Amino acid sequence: MIAVASDHGGYALKQVILEHLAQRGTPAEDLGCNGERVDYPLYAEKLSRAVAAGQYERGILVCGTGIGVSIAANKIPGIRAALCGDCFSAEMSRQHNDANVLCLGGRVLGPELAKKIVDTYLDTPFSGAESHSRRIAMIKDLES
Ligand code: RB5
Repeated sequence: MIAVASDHGGYALKQVILEHLAQRGTPAEDLGCNGERVDYPLYAEKLSRAVAAGQYERGILVCGTGIGVSIAANKIPGIRAALCGDCFSAEMSRQHNDANVLCLGGRVLGPELAKKIVDTYLDTPFSGAESHSRRIAMIKDLES
C-alpha cells in the first residue's frame, strides 16, 4: 500500500497521481489535503510517520515545488525522502538510496512526466549492494 499526501500547491498533481495509481492497479491511500490551504509540514509529517511505522510500504508527497515536503519528511527518523524531477533521479533514488518517500513539485512537473517518475520510482528495486547498504546505515547513524 502506497500513501499519497499533498498540500494545496500539490493537490492537482496528487489527484493525477491517485488516478494513475488506480489505473495501474497499485493500492494507494490519500492522506489529504482536500485542496484547501494547509501547512505542508503537517502532511509531510503525517505521511512520513505512517511510512516509518510500517503502515505503508512507501509514500509520495507533493507540494508546490516538492522542496518543503522533502525537507520536512527527512526530519522523521527512518525516512529517506527523494525530491525527483526526472526519471534517472527516481531510478537512482531506489537503486542507491532505497528512498521510501518520493517528493514531487506540483507546480514544477507536467502530469505525464510526473506519472513516468512515479512509475520509475515504484518499479525500481533497491540494488542491495553492500556499498549502498553501508551508506544508508551511515545515514541512519546520523539520526542518533
Ligand atoms: C505553498 O504555497 C508552497 O510554499 C508549498 O506548496 C511548497 O512549494 C513549499 O515548499
